[in-house]
Amino acid sequence: MENTLSIIKPEAVTRGLCGKIIAQIEESGLKIIAQKMLQMTSEQAIRFYAPHQGKSFFDGLVENITAGPIIVQVLSGEHAIEDYRKLMGNTNPVAADEGTIRRLYGLSIEKNAVHGSDNSDSAEREIAFFFNQLEILK
Ligand code: RTP
Ligand code: MG
Repeated sequence: MENTLSIIKPEAVTRGLCGKIIAQIEESGLKIIAQKMLQMTSEQAIRFYAPHQGKSFFDGLVENITAGPIIVQVLSGEHAIEDYRKLMGNTNPVAADEGTIRRLYGLSIEKNAVHGSDNSDSAEREIAFFFNQLEILK
């Protein structure tokens, strides 16, 4: 089994879309094995998004992810990383396939409703960023 980190971003939480997004995750077959709600500080966001440091959109990324509460989850599945990225759809909601979370609920590339880890190394780092081992179901 493989684990991935999911974030329901502030623009989705504040619009009351958590239930719909979580239902879609569950219906896809991915298992939620950890979940919590929190609001990131700028310091935390800068650390979390460190791999994007120096990119043109970095400051906006930090601003958006700290704008309100988020839901962070660990999702489990045989190919959880790839499966969740497919379920999210393209980074830019207008380029995402019909029925994907970003197509349905994303507002723009910057406010695209969800985050998912992009490979197993980042999944491990991102999960450890938010959760300790006691908080993750076996
Ligand atoms: P994520 O990491 O959030 O799951 O998304 P991703 O892999 O599809 O996209 P990534 O390249 O890792 O970018 C991280 C987040 O930065 C924002 N972004 N803005 N304005 C832009 O050109 C731009 N490019 C990326 C997006 O919100 C993306 O989710
Ligand atoms: Mg990414």
